[in-house]
Amino acid sequence: MQTELRKKLLDVFSTSEDEYVSGQRLADLSGCSRTAVWKHIEELRKEGFEFEAIRRKGYKIIHTPERVSADEIRLGLKADFIGRHIHYEESVESTQKIAQRLVLEEAPEGTIVIAEEQLAGKGRMGRKWHSPKYSGIWMSVILRPNLPPAKAPQLTLITAVAIVQAIEELTNVTPQIKWPNDILLNGKKLTGILTEMQADADRIISVIIGIGINVNQQREDYPEELESIATSLSIELGKKLERAELIKEVLYKLEKLYLLYLDKGFYPIKLLWESYAISIGKNITARMLTGSITGKAKGITEDGVLIIEDDLGELHHVYSADIEL
Ligand code: BTN
Repeated sequence: MQTELRKKLLDVFSTSEDEYVSGQRLADLSGCSRTAVWKHIEELRKEGFEFEAIRRKGYKIIHTPERVSADEIRLGLKADFIGRHIHYEESVESTQKIAQRLVLEEAPEGTIVIAEEQLAGKGRMGRKWHSPKYSGIWMSVILRPNLPPAKAPQLTLITAVAIVQAIEELTNVTPQIKWPNDILLNGKKLTGILTEMQADADRIISVIIGIGINVNQQREDYPEELESIATSLSIELGKKLERAELIKEVLYKLEKLYLLYLDKGFYPIKLLWESYAISIGKNITARMLTGSITGKAKGITEDGVLIIEDDLGELHHVYSADIEL
């Protein structure tokens, strides 16, 4: 209830842009008393929001906090249901773990978990994900599509397209996707996606999409073993970015693509994904737990499976691997 009200108040501010909004107007539009408005403004101040308050004119937001608060994500969020329920934590082991608990507690579709730092961030294939404080986006999104389990990998590809489009929208640079779900900028890894599913034999119960985006880390923030393979938007663009803005854009793009997918199927997503893919048409090596295959990456199947053609012209379907270009 409190959160709903806070969201309404922030919506009023985001639609009023640079104008001052009077306490009365805030009360009318959010359906609460002026005293409640005042209390909420005080709460927002404690979170790091700064307001300019002018007598008879009202309030204006002049600074949003450094740390990403749930309220800052609500301010101007264009998505309708992804990000509507926000679970924010300062420090966690892994946002995936929290999301798993929330799934069991029947959290609605679109619930997100965000943390400022992860002490045991999970990567693909049992690896660790470096998630230092205040510099990246460490987030898990809960979806509950009514689909068979075999379709789950498609959601990873949808997410990759959403992240590329969100970065493109805010920075004008277009990162590339390396199958299945790495997003690279200037050849180094910017983003990782980890999709975990709960399902019964023929239906998905829920999917938790873990998104890690390196945003404001500086070169010296990376441990030596990651320096040559990982990068951040800030390193590549030479400036810091507002993480909350990027989170909102990712959620918005993800929601749009997810709805498109539920409506029209995977084909339109496949085309978008291939348009951003770095490896298609190139010679690559796919390293799997069971061995490796070298050949030309031909594209992906409807199910998001990578097709590689070897020197003998034989086609191989790759379900899970590390790709070397
Ligand atoms: C990869 O190995 O490329 C996938 C990395 C996924 C990292 C994200 S950060 C948010 C979520 N919580 C985790 O513990 N991992 C994912």
